[in-house]
Amino acid sequence: MTIPPAALQTAAERFGTPLYVYDAAELDAALLRVRAAFGAARVYYAMKANPNLTLLRRLHAAGVGFECVSPGELARAEVVGASGAQILVNGPAKSDAEYAAGARLGATFIVDREEEVALLPPQSQALVRVNPALAVSTHDHLATGAAGSKFGITLQQAPRVLEALRAAGHTALGLHVHIGSAIRDAHDFTAAFGRLSELREETGPLAVLDAGGGWGLDADLHGIAREAWAAATAFGAELWVEPGRYLVARAGTLLTRVVGTKRTGRNFCLVDAGMTELLRPMLYGAAHPVTPLWDGPETADWDIAGPACESGDLLARDISLPQPRRGELLAIGEAGAYGAAMSSTYLTRSRPAEALYEPGRHSGADWTPIRRRETPQDVWAAEI
Ligand code: LLP
Repeated sequence: MTIPPAALQTAAERFGTPLYVYDAAELDAALLRVRAAFGAARVYYAMKANPNLTLLRRLHAAGVGFECVSPGELARAEVVGASGAQILVNGPAKSDAEYAAGARLGATFIVDREEEVALLPPQSQALVRVNPALAVSTHDHLATGAAGSKFGITLQQAPRVLEALRAAGHTALGLHVHIGSAIRDAHDFTAAFGRLSELREETGPLAVLDAGGGWGLDADLHGIAREAWAAATAFGAELWVEPGRYLVARAGTLLTRVVGTKRTGRNFCLVDAGMTELLRPMLYGAAHPVTPLWDGPETADWDIAGPACESGDLLARDISLPQPRRGELLAIGEAGAYGAAMSSTYLTRSRPAEALYEPGRHSGADWTPIRRRETPQDVWAAEI
């Protein structure tokens, strides 16, 4: 976390908690790291990681395209001014609305099953998503390149689908692979790109190889890039990548206030955020770094629990903290990806506000609000 504690205190007072904050310098640094590693590769941000319009506008201004998986994500891409080659339409079960919006915007489609060849709008640009049928070092829910997953086309079928695209009058740009998310072991990428390269003889040269995203935060980007470029070069293709988490996770922090403590069989530090604000610990057992913004000798190991009436509503377990006091702040780190994006209104909780930290950017104001806190009326606005 690079935002000074005093600035976090200011943001919590100004915008209230729970609050998502983002460090603009870290957002920019992450994109620079990606560009340094992947060189001339085209970068498509998987906006599912964090679709906030302010973040999308920054990335669009920096020349980044968008990978979209719903009509709503396509609408966001359009709202921030993206079009044509800057947009990928992906997903295992695209709706008519997505084909129509993709065609209107001139986007490139990622074909996930053979039937889609007949569903694509006339003369589409398309990539074929290949499932390399590999075990992947991540949580089961996050593995997409395993044999039994619902994603992609088998290696055996892929050349035929490229051919079918051409026969139907589409432009078959090349192949796409995305084996999962938060991948710990870089060898998984080596194996996946290796499997794709085996298709070279059957497919002939291709214009594009899209190597997807999925890089864990500690991943060796240079190593992954080397392997991805080797595969692209084997096809005579240009390289595209689709990072989500890597571009935004570290920049984001969830700020939550201590509500109180409770000792049952365990020590609970109760806070004002939980599964509705950050679902990842509950859904994937994800460990996010927890930093208390108060001092004192560490007292015990604490479970950080939220306000929902569910026993699984925990943000972290066994965290050593100074004695928690009501009103103190906790910073939950690496929360910029799939944090706010997966927050929900369960229990008619209002989704949190979000703010961007850019010291000195706006005549001395360090913080820019980038999403207001929802009201209960916002939550039920669509109900009749
Ligand atoms: N490309 C495709 C085709 C994808 O399906 C995804 C993510 C990405 C790129 C970006 O992956 P990333 O670089 O962010 O790992 N909700 C989960 C993550 C689900 C990712 C789904 N697909 C989480 O909270 O960890």
